[in-house]
Amino acid sequence: MRNINVGIIGYGTVGCGVARALKEKRAYLSRRLGASINLVKVCDKDLKSRRPFRIDRRLLTKRPAEVINNPEIDIVVELIGGISPAREFILQAIKNKKHVITANKALLSEEKRRLFKAAQANGVELRFEASVGGGIPIIKALREGLVANRIMSIYAIINGTCNYILSEMTQKRIGFNAALEQAKKKGYAERNPALDIEGHDSAHKLAIMASMAYGIDVRPKDIYVEGISNISDDDIRYARGFGYVVKLLAIAKRIGRVLELRVHPTLVNRNHPLASVGSNFNAVFLDSDMLGEALFYGQGSGSAPSASAVVSDIVDVARNIINNAETKMPSIVYDKQADRIKRQKDFYTSYYIRFSAIDKPGVLSKISKILAQHKISIASVSQKVRRRERIVPIIMMTHDAKESALSNALKKIDGLDIIRRKSVVIRSEKDLE
Ligand code: HSE
Repeated sequence: MRNINVGIIGYGTVGCGVARALKEKRAYLSRRLGASINLVKVCDKDLKSRRPFRIDRRLLTKRPAEVINNPEIDIVVELIGGISPAREFILQAIKNKKHVITANKALLSEEKRRLFKAAQANGVELRFEASVGGGIPIIKALREGLVANRIMSIYAIINGTCNYILSEMTQKRIGFNAALEQAKKKGYAERNPALDIEGHDSAHKLAIMASMAYGIDVRPKDIYVEGISNISDDDIRYARGFGYVVKLLAIAKRIGRVLELRVHPTLVNRNHPLASVGSNFNAVFLDSDMLGEALFYGQGSGSAPSASAVVSDIVDVARNIINNAETKMPSIVYDKQADRIKRQKDFYTSYYIRFSAIDKPGVLSKISKILAQHKISIASVSQKVRRRERIVPIIMMTHDAKESALSNALKKIDGLDIIRRKSVVIRSEKDLE
């Protein structure tokens, strides 16, 4: 039986999961593949810390070159994350004619064009199933399962940390900070969770999916990003009163030749499938011209789910090596399905707005007059409590309006002497009604 040799750089949570799967499922995988997959080297700068899965010490090294320049190795798995030195390791491995598998969404979102070009020039593959949605095979679905489809829209919950925090805030009626602490205790949030809670991790993953779906090189800078740290438990409760749940969504949609790309907290109708995606789960809801609406749901992180995705890439690449497949299916085809990316001022959605106003006659009419002057039509209004002369939350749902009109109106409203705090805005999506 043919041998396919694998080396891993980065022996953390996912690396351990991959090593475990390759060992414990060795016979199972070789029956499916018709070849043996051998883990021959594992590199990590820390070889002292105890791991949940221990391997033969002879496989371990601190020197990345022992993987990248190893003539025995066919496939290099990069699991260290971050831009540098991951980029240099990947490029050197490619140059050495090794196939590369990575879970590195930050690097791919920024530099995928260059990395794929290098892989193509050297006749090797670059695979990245674990970079988006953890164990959910969404990359394979976009590349292969949906190859005949035109993708109209993608609405995705692709950050488990944020989804866990928002779900806890909703169910337990706790504030953002308490929910974040809980996420840290459960191991769902990094010690420095900024990349997650400010929405950038979702933007990295959206850049990868949107590039595949729309054939243009979407970069993080092309995406409007807003995180969840300003969402309060009050807003979640009030939104529920209107029939919505709050989710951090990564959104990509093409209207004609214009592409819209955004990551922000979004109101989702409580009856929509995305509303029931709880805890730290991920889900990608997409609409395409042949399949129609489809939901991909599962664990977006963790040792075994992420390793499931990496091993699927290993087996795919191994199959191509065995078959000596000359034309490998490209992961991104730059067929330019859009000409430009919509600017924030042109976004057109409906809005939840919470005004913090003093409670006296005429307040509502002052607010609604300014909204009317900016052609923003109110769908419903509710004032939650009435405490004389104290700040009261006034909640409004608007009909669809242009974002530039809304921001001009809010500048005026927030400048009124009856308004005591900056108004809070959460966008709502018509498609998710
Ligand atoms: N930090 C990510 C999340 C997991 O919270 O979903 C890996 O992509």
